Amino acid sequence: MLVALTGAGISAESGVPTFRGEEGLWKRYDPSRLATPEAFQRDPKTVWEWYAWRREVIAKAEPNEAHRTLADLEREKGLWVITQNVDGLHQRAGSKKVIELHGNIWRVRCLSCGARFYDRRVPLKEIPPRCGKCGGLLRPDVVWFGEPLPEDALRKAYDLSARAEVFLVIGTSATVYPAAELPLIAKRSGAKVIEINPEETPLTPFADLSIRKGASEGLREVVGDLI
Ligand code: OAD
Ligand code: ZN
Repeated sequence: MLVALTGAGISAESGVPTFRGEEGLWKRYDPSRLATPEAFQRDPKTVWEWYAWRREVIAKAEPNEAHRTLADLEREKGLWVITQNVDGLHQRAGSKKVIELHGNIWRVRCLSCGARFYDRRVPLKEIPPRCGKCGGLLRPDVVWFGEPLPEDALRKAYDLSARAEVFLVIGTSATVYPAAELPLIAKRSGAKVIEINPEETPLTPFADLSIRKGASEGLREVVGDLI
């Protein structure tokens, strides 16, 4: 079985900023003020303004060659994608077998009644947005620091990682757990681990092959051997 773990780097070529690195979002913004449940409780408006801006950036972005190559690999080889990204670009490129570990920026969740639904409006009508059913406060249905990952997604990700024969790791700094653990689980279970990232990561020493290139170009190099 063929499995890919993706991170923000795969969407970089689509113009969606990554989190870490020189140009990363966490250089300009403080995650403790924008991506924690405490920050949202304190100041939902500021958190929502930041998410509204990211939704605008993502709405304008198009899936790139790397997203499309993974969609091809699903059609040809049944590839599964496990992603830390919330941008939905894998699905827009045609991937269906996508496990979202950190939620989806286009989905919202009501803090009062628990309703959960997609809301793709850009721009949002009101900030913070309110639940159409009960008037409660809506939050982005993404995983923030200090929150557990969705149980089903995580269980499926562990299972796929343990069963993978080839495990691609594309565009992730491999620093955020539990996602960063998945390539190690795959490796321990006998998978060949291939990393595609212009930079070294903590995973590099464990990878069977490290391709120091951007996602699209790096995938071009290995796709012939995978199909
Ligand atoms: P990071 O921003 O931590 O890492 C992005 C990685 O992409 C880096 O290792 C870059 O070297 C690499 N990269 C940059 N350009 C690339 C390109 N063109 N092709 C391939 N790789 C490229 O993003 P993640 O690892 O996804 O979580 O971050 C993990 C989590 O931390 C995110 O899901 C988010 C963040 O805080 C939450 O918000 C909970
Ligand atoms: Zn509600």
